[in-house]
Amino acid sequence: MAFRKDFLWGVGTSAYQIEGAAMEDGRSPSVWDQYCHEDGGHIKCGHTGDVACDHYHRYKEDVELMRQLGIKSYRFSLSWSRILPNGIGAVNQKGIDFYNNLIDALLENGITPCITLFHWDYPYELQKKGAWLNPESADWFAYYTEVVAKAFGDRVKWFITLNEPQCFLGMGYYDGCNAPGKRHSLEDMALMLHNMFLAHGKSVITIRKYVQDAKVGYAPTCGVNMPLTNSAADIAAAKKQYLSIDPAAWIWNVVLWSDPVVLGRYPEEDPFFAQQFRRYLPENYEDDMQIICQPLDFYGQNIYNGSLWQADAAGEPMWTANPVGNPRTANGWPVTPDALYWGPKFLYERYRLPIMITENGLSCHDMVSLDGKVHDPNRIDFTHRYLQALKRAANEGVDILGYYHWSLLDNFEWGAGYTERFGLIYVDYATQERIKKDSFDWYRSVIEENGEYL
Ligand code: FCB
Repeated sequence: MAFRKDFLWGVGTSAYQIEGAAMEDGRSPSVWDQYCHEDGGHIKCGHTGDVACDHYHRYKEDVELMRQLGIKSYRFSLSWSRILPNGIGAVNQKGIDFYNNLIDALLENGITPCITLFHWDYPYELQKKGAWLNPESADWFAYYTEVVAKAFGDRVKWFITLNEPQCFLGMGYYDGCNAPGKRHSLEDMALMLHNMFLAHGKSVITIRKYVQDAKVGYAPTCGVNMPLTNSAADIAAAKKQYLSIDPAAWIWNVVLWSDPVVLGRYPEEDPFFAQQFRRYLPENYEDDMQIICQPLDFYGQNIYNGSLWQADAAGEPMWTANPVGNPRTANGWPVTPDALYWGPKFLYERYRLPIMITENGLSCHDMVSLDGKVHDPNRIDFTHRYLQALKRAANEGVDILGYYHWSLLDNFEWGAGYTERFGLIYVDYATQERIKKDSFDWYRSVIEENGEYL
């Protein structure tokens, strides 16, 4: 057993984090361009995605590196405002050309493209029209999807509608710590969420209409709640916590962001939903479930870490601190390999769809050593442990379609700018030189062996 024979070993990136060429060939700004530049910038060190990894001009070199890495699939996102500078309406042919060239290069190298339609870089022109609060926003996304499906659907079969709505809605419009940096009321958030779900549903319908044999999924995220011990009580407590909404941190949960899409209903029995959220949803919101809940081929999840939970005396979930000295990645995220075991297991039990790990990885303090190489034993060890946990879940019957390591290249890590390095390939931003890290070779051998010796 272990990993399926057709397991999709891959790497992921997103448009704004790597492409650069922000003002070139007809692309118009996204909310991230705006956020990086307005009021002197909101990003660490004043960094912006203007140039990023210059992937727009270096995509051939990057695809060649992917070939050497031996990946089966490459997950990347499209810049909506490169394709539709006004967000809707006229198509920018140069944007289409760029992605056509990239897709063709991938296929020539035997790499299956997996397109994420939207990875946070919302067209600024549509932000000015109210973005996800505008009742037309679902149709804008459906129209963009149609342009994409018609242009690339003859060669691209794998699609992900939205990446991490928790982040682009929750952090972008509620916490205000991601672009566009807004702080809306809970009432507005409920409407945005609902419009975002409609956008997802209409997008899936559109893909199915124009792309034969499409494989469509969705890629939310959430820290995993893991049991402290393997006792039945702790497992039940962790699972209960994972599948509920914490009112104090309502944007970070699984069910609110996935139940409508997969199960065709909001988590009606959840106290936060019932008492604080439902009242703001549009009247007769249930009627929209026919659009929102479309059959999916896989359920994606970005998983980086988890927290420990145990059952208290009454059997209720109780948070437990990680052991003192528990390892952390360079940006302070806890190293918790079992997240890649419990996450897929709990999610599969609830949603019964094949699971795709759409992101997993870590930031390290990578540097070029005197020997000219980048030695990153921590990345190898981290990924090894996480993949072992994922394999354990697969061995126990969780249907896992693939794993996309985040990321191919060091890149623009949103609010942290270029200060965090997540790549299997080091990028020297002054010269744009790419240097394969030790983990690059290690991951290649894992792929070659289909994870057999992990
Ligand atoms: C995820 C994002 C991705 C990347 C990783 C580190 O939340 O989807 O773009 O920034 O974190």
